[in-house]
Amino acid sequence: MTTNPVALITGASRGIGRGIAQELAKVGHDLVVNFSSSADGARQTAADCVAAAKAVGKTIRAEICQGDVGKAADRERLIAFTREQFGRLDLLVNNAGITSIGRRDVLEAREDEFDALMAINLKGPYFLSQLAANWMIEQGARTPTSATVPEKPSAADVGVRAPCCGGYRPKIVIVSSISGYAVSTNRGDYCMAKAALGMMTRLYATRLADHGINVYEVCPGVIASDMTAPVKEKYDKLFADGLAPIRRWGTPEDVGRAVTALALDYLPYSTGETINVDGGFHVRRL
Ligand SMILES: NC(=O)c1ccc[n+]([C@@H]2O[C@H](COP(=O)([O-])OP(=O)(O)OC[C@H]3O[C@@H](n4cnc5c(N)ncnc54)[C@H](OP(=O)(O)O)[C@@H]3O)[C@@H](O)[C@H]2O)c1
Repeated sequence: MTTNPVALITGASRGIGRGIAQELAKVGHDLVVNFSSSADGARQTAADCVAAAKAVGKTIRAEICQGDVGKAADRERLIAFTREQFGRLDLLVNNAGITSIGRRDVLEAREDEFDALMAINLKGPYFLSQLAANWMIEQGARTPTSATVPEKPSAADVGVRAPCCGGYRPKIVIVSSISGYAVSTNRGDYCMAKAALGMMTRLYATRLADHGINVYEVCPGVIASDMTAPVKEKYDKLFADGLAPIRRWGTPEDVGRAVTALALDYLPYSTGETINVDGGFHVRRL
């Protein structure tokens, strides 16, 4: 069994998932890099992560694992793979997701496309989190007492072990989207799935608090990735016009750094919380 903390990241063959994996690697997490169809992309992520860790003097292992989060058998296999390869799980990052398949107006949306999106973007995270949470409980996650309240990680701790004096303090992160509250009438299914992930975060946060498992929603704004590449020009202009107070695209690294702060237990007394990684997009302005 590894002594590094272990993170399982869904949809880490490219984009935001890859950014999260790289940042976690730099603080010494072993990784399970999940993908759906891009095996080469996943291999690249794993190689990049090992190199990124090495560059800061850490040794990590990154293994790739194919699996469609929308399928029950694949979710079971992902957890079994993590168990076999590493013997522990400290962090599940539910990142995999697809955009609205037909991008149809709500008046023309199709049921088959709706079902396909919901399977990946909502049912997948809900039931993968269930599997992970049950394993985390089995591994001994329990209520922190005053003696086990995590201390701020010291430089020496970071990347060596899960940096908390109470021992095992696993976490679950759910990647939602500003589309969970900002309407796009041609992506109703995507918006609704992302909105539901907010409630899912609060459900699991409440249920798992007695086990010392914190659960967070990470809510990215507009992030440069394959998903947003087709709308690059539109958002270049919107950012220039002040779409968000911070006038630039977000990057996968921005999201990865936020997830890393959570993984390192910098928010031990916060759970069910939404961490906006959106350049301030969510701030209402007059
Ligand atoms: N980009 C944005 O602006 C933005 C903003 C807010 C939220 N988000 C959310 O952030 C997450 C990542 O987005 P992204 O921009 O990085 O997207 P992306 O570049 O399209 O990458 C999607 C990732 O998810 C994987 N994936 C897709 N379907 C899957 C399935 N059924 N099972 C397992 N993995 C699957 C893909 O694997 P393959 O490579 O194998 O297909 C890929 O690794 C998504 O949940 C998205 O909704 C994105």
